[in-house]
Amino acid sequence: MLVRFNNAELSAHSIFEHEKSLDLFRKQGFFILENRENLSPENYIELFKVKSGLGGYFQSEFNKNYHASNIKGNVSLIGQIDKGIHPSFNTCNGQDFHVDGTFELIGTVKTSVLYCVENADVGGESILFDANGAFIFLEKNYPHCAVALMNEKSLVRRSTTGTEDFCIGPAFKYNQNKLYTRFTIDISACWEEAYSQIDHLEEAVNIMRDIAQPGSPYYLQFALAPQHMIVFENDTLCHGRLSYQQFNKQRLMIRALFYDRFGDASFISQYPIVNEQKSTELFS
Ligand SMILES: [Fe+2]
Repeated sequence: MLVRFNNAELSAHSIFEHEKSLDLFRKQGFFILENRENLSPENYIELFKVKSGLGGYFQSEFNKNYHASNIKGNVSLIGQIDKGIHPSFNTCNGQDFHVDGTFELIGTVKTSVLYCVENADVGGESILFDANGAFIFLEKNYPHCAVALMNEKSLVRRSTTGTEDFCIGPAFKYNQNKLYTRFTIDISACWEEAYSQIDHLEEAVNIMRDIAQPGSPYYLQFALAPQHMIVFENDTLCHGRLSYQQFNKQRLMIRALFYDRFGDASFISQYPIVNEQKSTELFS
């Protein structure tokens, strides 16, 4: 079994250890930095962006239109309870696995960054799901399920705040021999809408849900410490958080999204079965 999370490195390193960041990103699809320079979170993220050669920030039109109170410059604030109505940004709820960019086509947002300003008194751990690894498991053991998840209409994601916004597309897609995902099981995912139209889709989603549980080799859970920042591939990994409680501290995370991939734009963290193929374009 090929699993990216085997012996995953969860300790934080310096933003100036670029080669270490690259190595970890290629091996496990994410890495954790520590703001040892004591910069403001926004300045630290901007330093990371410049040092990494990432282009422009992504900010969704949906959040600009309906959740502007959570936006500060190029980043989003997650954790201002009672200062907005976003179902994950402004609550202590857990958030199931998803990829960022709810209404974007698969592969649009390639790099996600979460900076921890303050963690919760209880709970709030970060969770990761190696969706690509789980999909390869399906390809080998339940190939009919893998086909279902690649159907162009397999996954509908809808607004959770009462608007009509939605996005339909495949949950997984190969492009130039590389595998990308927008697999999601949070409240935006409306899988059941396609169950009657796509053979084996329900079976596929149920298997994936089972794999995305604690104890699975494709599941990772950890607490992000203040001044630590995780950088991860948004188009091969899913992420989420556990619910939390706050008494003396106010949990606050800052999120930045990028169209570009960290490191070599042609590289994507993949399994050895996938050929390396140079490409700077994703989908036409
Ligand atoms: Fe997210």
